[in-house]
Amino acid sequence: MTNKKITIKDGQSNNEAELPVLESILGPDVVDIRALEKDLGYLSHDPGFMATSSCESKITFIDGNEGKLWYRGYPIEELAEKSNFIETAYLLLNDKLPNNNELELFSKNISSSYNVDPAIKNIIEVFDKSSHPMAIMTACLSYLSAKYHDNIDIQNKDYRYKSTINLISSVPVISAWILNYILSEQFQEPSEKRSIAENFINMAFPKLDPDQKNLSSKAMDIIFLLHADHEQNASTSTVRLSGSSETSPYAAIAAGISTLWGPTHGGANEAVINMLEEIKNSDKDVEHYINMAKDKENTFRLMGFGHRIYKNYDPRAKIIQKIAHEYLSQLDNTNPNKPLFDIAMKLEKFALEDDYFVSRKLYPNVDFYSGIVLKAIGIPQSMYTVIFALARTVGWVAHWNEMIEDKNFRIGRPRQLYTGKNKTSYRDIKDR
Ligand code: SDX
Repeated sequence: MTNKKITIKDGQSNNEAELPVLESILGPDVVDIRALEKDLGYLSHDPGFMATSSCESKITFIDGNEGKLWYRGYPIEELAEKSNFIETAYLLLNDKLPNNNELELFSKNISSSYNVDPAIKNIIEVFDKSSHPMAIMTACLSYLSAKYHDNIDIQNKDYRYKSTINLISSVPVISAWILNYILSEQFQEPSEKRSIAENFINMAFPKLDPDQKNLSSKAMDIIFLLHADHEQNASTSTVRLSGSSETSPYAAIAAGISTLWGPTHGGANEAVINMLEEIKNSDKDVEHYINMAKDKENTFRLMGFGHRIYKNYDPRAKIIQKIAHEYLSQLDNTNPNKPLFDIAMKLEKFALEDDYFVSRKLYPNVDFYSGIVLKAIGIPQSMYTVIFALARTVGWVAHWNEMIEDKNFRIGRPRQLYTGKNKTSYRDIKDR
């Protein structure tokens, strides 16, 4: 705790407010503005929360300028190289890497919870096969919020642990069932003997040869690990705000899924491929699209580029870029995906050299390459954000638990700058 303070003086009244500075272990310290209204009668104003710390957290650290991403202090590059999704999930939830016994028990708790209520299949089948899988996923989580509604006990650690395990193990099985359904395949069943990534690939592509299953499971495990958490992004902030009313964790995760779905957030990986397809089918070249993205009058944005925090390469993008290039190098010219990936590489080259992107520090983000790898694995585009949600469920429940255990835990309720009408009297319709 520092004794640092910020003094704000009101030029009108000459009144002053002394605001304490709270110390970050890393990254900017924060000014605690809670006394601002009491001492000076003002609120702070920060649309889009560009400069607002919403909570104290120990889970993930991002340094956007340096392109750093650490889960509980461990650099993402090391975890991607040496760890795996389930071990990283344990780390995010428990603030420590597990020993053998801890990992074995955690993995067993997860795999013994793969047995999702088969009624979920009926929920999935209510939807038209052309429905967006994120809508189906949200409905499935709402079903679970009803199924487990009676014993909600947010303040009970054991209840939170059981909900955490149930969510981390159920979402991947539901994701695979949704994929089976939209591909008009039989629902496949999970196996307790498999990791989350192996289960997903085996359920999604039961007829794949073992070597291909193994390659795809490894790539999927890294993709899950890289997408597991990312500090206070829009969907995690949604889960925190939703969970702050002590609602069902299943309902809070459903809210997070809805937020992640948007094309400027988790929906970007799907939007990247849609953009590549559009360019491939267009008579315009890559440069035309780069110029569209630069044109302020044009709403077109280069999907997969830019980030609210990273003003350097997204470290996850660099890791997935390597996997994408490995997949691309295996593609022969007959592969239908090859033209798409060639376009992607041209966009990447253009954007990394063009002053518009360089001056705004718009680098490729995790979604630019994850869409490419998921397409190479054979996942349908509409499922990409479901894959993102599957992985991010770990981060969401880690933040949900951290919030509830925080001594400052209370319902979130932002304020506003009101610029509407002053008091107005009602007039009968005949006088309007
Ligand atoms: C994720 O927050 C997280 O952590 C998210 C995430 C996670 O793991 O949870 O990392 C996952 O959501 C990654 C981002 C995926 N989204 C996309 O790839 C969609 C394309 N990107 C843009 O929509 C945009 O870059 C955002 C939404 C990601 C960031 O938007 P900001 O921070 O609000 O930035 P901005 O809109 O203020 O842009 C600054 C400038 C603007 O130009 P000027 O007004 O300065 O002239 O850069 C321009 C923008 O027009 N710009 C782009 C652009 N992104 C920003 N121009 C063209 N193409 C783009 N992609």
